Amino acid sequence: MPEALSPRDIAASLTEHWSPRVIAELDQSYVKVAKVQGTIGWHSHESEDELFVVLKGCLRIDMEAGPVVLNEGDLFVVPAGTRHNPSAPDECLIMLIERKSTLHTGTVVNEKTRTLAEQLRPIPGNACSREFD
Ligand code: NI
Repeated sequence: MPEALSPRDIAASLTEHWSPRVIAELDQSYVKVAKVQGTIGWHSHESEDELFVVLKGCLRIDMEAGPVVLNEGDLFVVPAGTRHNPSAPDECLIMLIERKSTLHTGTVVNEKTRTLAEQLRPIPGNACSREFD
C-alpha cells in the first residue's frame, strides 16, 4: 500500500548529528534527512548540485561568496563545484536532495564523513501510524 513519509518526523527521530539518512529516491537522486548542530566542515561536490530545505530550526551555509541563512521552510541550492560549510548553532532538521553519486563531504574526508552505506541504513519506525476515519 502506498505510504506518505514525514521528512520532519524522520529527521527528528535521528540520534546522531550530521549523519544523513536516505528516505526516498527519484530518478538519479536521493532525498535525505539529517539532524545537525555545529558544523560539518568546508567541502565541495565537483559535479553535483546539493539542495537544502530546512524542516525545523535555522541553518547557515558559508560559501566563499558569503553566507546564506535558511530559516524554517527555506530552500537553497549549492551549485556544483562551490565550496560550502553548513552550520547550525542550535539543533536543526534538514532535508537534502542530491544525485546518488554525491559524496557526503565531497573530496574531503573528516571524522563526520558518512559513507553511502551508512546513509542507506533503514530507519526504524518511520511509517506514519496515524489512523483515519
Ligand atoms: Ni555538501
